Amino acid sequence: MKQGGSDAAKRAAGESAAEAVEDGLVVGLGTGSTAAHAIRAIGRQVDAGLDVTGVATSFQSRALARECEIPLADLDEVSVDLAIDGADEVAGGDLIKGGGAAHAREKVVDAAADRFLVVADPTKEAETLSVPVPVEVLPAARTTVAAAVEELGGEPRLRAAERKDGPVVTDNGNLVLDCDLGAIDEPATVARHLADTPGVVEHGLFVGLADEIHVGREDGVSVREP
Ligand code: A5P
Repeated sequence: MKQGGSDAAKRAAGESAAEAVEDGLVVGLGTGSTAAHAIRAIGRQVDAGLDVTGVATSFQSRALARECEIPLADLDEVSVDLAIDGADEVAGGDLIKGGGAAHAREKVVDAAADRFLVVADPTKEAETLSVPVPVEVLPAARTTVAAAVEELGGEPRLRAAERKDGPVVTDNGNLVLDCDLGAIDEPATVARHLADTPGVVEHGLFVGLADEIHVGREDGVSVREP
């Protein structure tokens, strides 16, 4: 995972995307350190009187939104106008997500949004996607999915928890295989193979979902379309 970006750059990206939030919108609240800056900025807007409803993408984003006093709804109660979310790697408009093991819910919310804004620092940008792809799997399917990934030429590794013996367990009660697939020249094809594998709950390739990429730097932000 690429975690080298400065907090100032992440903050610039998050705050830039939060400027797109308008009165009355339902906003998907992403997970991770960059999206957290957007959530805090939206919280300040709410404090100043903005009327928005958030849809959390994880335990973490829900907790932060509550701390920021952003009113929340579940995805089955609303339709999402705008989602703001981070990424582990960005190439063109395609992403790898799931460094925080939240990509399954993130993908549901980000894909449901009318507009999906990605927030990132420059360390996340790449010509070609190549960081390991997080794949959330049913616990019972860990070995069969791993075998399917090896057949694709990948190297799956069960994500281990920190400060707990054993694996990471997702917010959905599943496990994560970080799958090193090398340079991914055809993300849509790899995404389809992973999605077609029985036992895969969701993978971290987000292909063709992003509408805008906000890349923060110490001295400003660049916004581009994929
Ligand atoms: C969470 O599972 C991820 O998809 C995050 O959105 C991604 O890891 C980006 O996180 P950072 O902004 O902390 O790098």
